[in-house]
Amino acid sequence: MSKTTLFSLVLFLAFARGDFHQFAWGQPYWVFDIPEMPEVITRGGEQAYRLPKTVVPIIYDIYIHLFFDENEDSPFTYDGWESIIIQATAPNVTHIILHSNVDFIKRLNLYNEQGSPVRLNPILPFQTEPSYHFLIINLLSPLIVGVNYTLHIGYSGSINEGPMKKGIWRGWYIDDEGNERIYVTTHFQPYMTRQAFPCWDEPEFKAAFRLHLSAPRSYRGTFSNTGVEYFNFIGTDRIIEHFRLTPKMSPYLVTFLVSETFQVIAENSSFTPPIRIIGRSNIAGLGDHALDLVVKMTTFYDEYFQMPYSTLHENLTNDHVISPDWESAGTENWGMVSYRELFMIIDPRETIMSTEQYSATLASHELAHIWFGNLVTCQWWNNTWMNEGFASYFGYIGANEMFPEYRLDEQFNSRYLKNTLDFDSRTWSSPLNHAVYTPEQVTNNFGTISYSKGAVFVRMTADIITQETFRKACRYFLERNKFKPADQYDLLNAFSDAITEDNSLSIYQHFNFTEYYRVWVNEPGYPILNVNVNHVTGEMALHQQRFFISANTKTTGRIYPIPITYSTARSADFENIRPIYMMSSERAVLNKTAGEEWVIFNHLQHGLYRVNYDDRTWDLIAEALRDTPIHHLNRAQIVEDVFALMRSGRMTHSKGFYILQFLQAEINYHVWYVAINGYSWLRERLGHLPESLAEFDSYILGYMQNVIEAVDFEPSTNEEPTVSLTRQEVLQFACALGHKACVEDSISRFLAMRNGTWIDPRIRKNVYMTGIRHGSTEDFDFLMNRLLNSNYANDQSEMLRGLASTTSPQLLLRYLNFTLTRDVRSHDKFNAFGYALVGDQESALTVLEFVKNNIDAIRVEYIEDAPLKPVHKALEYLAEHLNEKGLNDYENWLRTTQSKSLQYGSALSSIAMARGNLAWGTANAEDILTAARGGAVTVATSITLLIVMAFISTVV
Ligand SMILES: *[C@@H]1O[C@H](CO)[C@@H](O)[C@H](O)[C@H]1NC(C)=O
Ligand SMILES: *[C@@H]1O[C@H](CO)[C@@H](O)[C@H](O)[C@H]1NC(C)=O
Ligand SMILES: *[C@@H]1O[C@H](CO)[C@@H](O)[C@H](O)[C@H]1NC(C)=O
Ligand SMILES: [Zn+2]
Repeated sequence: MSKTTLFSLVLFLAFARGDFHQFAWGQPYWVFDIPEMPEVITRGGEQAYRLPKTVVPIIYDIYIHLFFDENEDSPFTYDGWESIIIQATAPNVTHIILHSNVDFIKRLNLYNEQGSPVRLNPILPFQTEPSYHFLIINLLSPLIVGVNYTLHIGYSGSINEGPMKKGIWRGWYIDDEGNERIYVTTHFQPYMTRQAFPCWDEPEFKAAFRLHLSAPRSYRGTFSNTGVEYFNFIGTDRIIEHFRLTPKMSPYLVTFLVSETFQVIAENSSFTPPIRIIGRSNIAGLGDHALDLVVKMTTFYDEYFQMPYSTLHENLTNDHVISPDWESAGTENWGMVSYRELFMIIDPRETIMSTEQYSATLASHELAHIWFGNLVTCQWWNNTWMNEGFASYFGYIGANEMFPEYRLDEQFNSRYLKNTLDFDSRTWSSPLNHAVYTPEQVTNNFGTISYSKGAVFVRMTADIITQETFRKACRYFLERNKFKPADQYDLLNAFSDAITEDNSLSIYQHFNFTEYYRVWVNEPGYPILNVNVNHVTGEMALHQQRFFISANTKTTGRIYPIPITYSTARSADFENIRPIYMMSSERAVLNKTAGEEWVIFNHLQHGLYRVNYDDRTWDLIAEALRDTPIHHLNRAQIVEDVFALMRSGRMTHSKGFYILQFLQAEINYHVWYVAINGYSWLRERLGHLPESLAEFDSYILGYMQNVIEAVDFEPSTNEEPTVSLTRQEVLQFACALGHKACVEDSISRFLAMRNGTWIDPRIRKNVYMTGIRHGSTEDFDFLMNRLLNSNYANDQSEMLRGLASTTSPQLLLRYLNFTLTRDVRSHDKFNAFGYALVGDQESALTVLEFVKNNIDAIRVEYIEDAPLKPVHKALEYLAEHLNEKGLNDYENWLRTTQSKSLQYGSALSSIAMARGNLAWGTANAEDILTAARGGAVTVATSITLLIVMAFISTVV
């Protein structure tokens, strides 16, 4: 919509509704000029998305009257009215600009300190600018700086269906009596508060909020950031609840939930405020695990930050809502954190181990946000990592203190370090701190860089400055910036002061912490350290370059300050993570004792860099991996690096596969996790060459024999969580590759389950997938029924994955059509679609048929316009799994029927990328297989090869 049409539309509506109170002063409107557009908008460009800081809000009183389906004329809408105390911070302010993305502004008035109306421009008292979500109020004379004005706005809006578009939205569940229960809640992070009420919707505009919510009388399950101060009835059928004032906080943290039946399902009242777990009526009694997580993590952070939750603000609650629908895993709204039920209703008899562990990191992450995010907030989303990187770091490292049995400190590597190494090795990667303006840019900044690289950077920094100084730095940062926004320099100052006070960098010569911080926060990428050892003298020549995964990218001269740690055969100390040296130059030389021996750099892979060695040293490492106790996280590091070195053309396949020979004896989770990842990457590129793939699979299965035997098919009663995880990963992969014993065992367990036997959740993932992959229509129907009748969201999600494993095109189409129904919740639809592509390339052709025949329904049901863009992602993901025939078909369909669609460009570029992958596979298949043969274990090969071939022939 152009500005002119918009302009007249607002004018027309305003006149039509007779909302010009300013006429009371007598002047006819034609003596006034049409107000000029404020400069913030006329200057255009992306900067125009940011609000001017010339007016700030102080306190909001917000009345929201929610209408459910009892309101037949306009069901699922709301009427709002708010009163905001504001102040001008600069002279000459003649426009008040704030955000609004509500449906309709009905009334707007401004009052001065004395309560008298302030005159607005009578021709155009206010206007909206939808492309920026702005509401612009046009004054006749400037505001007086530093005095309070009160802004009144009446408006109306709609309740979104489902969680995907955030704002105020409604979800549902079926209660024990079979009634559908609708609840309404909010998800505002990062810029959806403006959908609920006009406001200054940027994190730095911290203010206090007082909510007043009205709903039909039966809706008494109401929760928010703070407790209810009092309530009254409106007429005979409605109730209005008045909540206490919140602390000064960013608007994205405001939240509420209104329902008939949500209730406290677990509570610990020995805390102030009491810790409460809230959920739908039919999970009552299932909240104890979640309560335990929240209680322990609250206890931990109270002690760690020395700013206990109870002292932060007298009105805050400590509620944790578990919602059947939620767009993300959890959101840290202050006083009322919300989680997706899938991740928080944990029952060891029903929940797989990986989800049980994830729930601990999730609760820990959200609670860490109370301090890093809520109390102190990144000033703007260009530093999203200051919220998310710290929360992610504490999500693992904090939770590890309270739940040591999960070894989350070690899992940090597969979760955050590996993601960062993968993602940040591309040319288009951005630094932790980088400019964002538009909503789409803001959404994209809630991704791998902010969460994973942020967490990795925080951990690396703590290693360098020591845990004690790190903790002190966190406390300085929180204490100095509480209830305020903070930028990267506030954080740097807190760290620098703590470091100076503790003199904690004195062991390093010429190490400039400010420069270290500047580079890692403000430059993209990470380095590879090339190590060249002179085995006679012991001299180790180090050289660093930025690492790019693509073999064709020229490296840059950027220097990263690298924390150096290393072990040698004669002096191994892998658990010592304090760097002995900070390498701040392109080249450096270190000396170890003379004489030939292996060396391995980057203890426990805590530093964000890869390592490559000279040939001789690699040979020594390869030998050591077979017969020396190298720490398992460094074994994992080597596997991870070797795959990346092969992929980026720095190491031949034969060298790489030679080093990887030690995997034959390997049984550790972390090592197999990265190995399975590396093998999968190669397998995907061989998917169109069935014979090569079968041979490659038999090579992998030969290597897995040991670990399969070590974990066994039957979980033992008190095994360590990491063993359960290993089994889960290894069996899923081995069964998918057709390992005979694995397949047979899983099928028999699936049949036992059909006969009513309880199956341990630690092996369910694999039993579901294998049972269905090799099963009948009856098996499929059985699992479908089991899914529909389950009360456990996490088990349901595993069953969904199982159903998607079918190799029957008819059943796969049934499955895909099922994803279009409400039984697959909207936040699960994209994942469910992805599960269908995990199988072989025949499945992908079926998915393509489904997409071609149902694209309109997919757009609606998967919520095309949700910020996460699930339809774009689904169409891109499809391309990655098609063979050449499928890609041609797909491209042809896109070009002839979809050229006007929003996904056209991104789908076409993913087709081009997929073709590149296939070509890479074709060109490298022989080389990979030769390398694999060179180090192959022949045991079981011929048998598994036959099985795999047989499996392929049944599905062709
Ligand atoms: C405000 O407006 C007055 C009068 O137009 C002008 O003299 C003054 O410089 C302006 N102040 C600022 C900060 O723009
Ligand atoms: C403005 O309003 C706030 C909140 O009611 C109050 O605390 C403050 O004292 C007021 N400031 C002035 C200058 O009146
Ligand atoms: C440390 O690095 C910063 C830039 O990151 C620079 O401004 C400062 O001068 C450096 N300090 C020393 C002592 O070199
Ligand atoms: Zn977070």
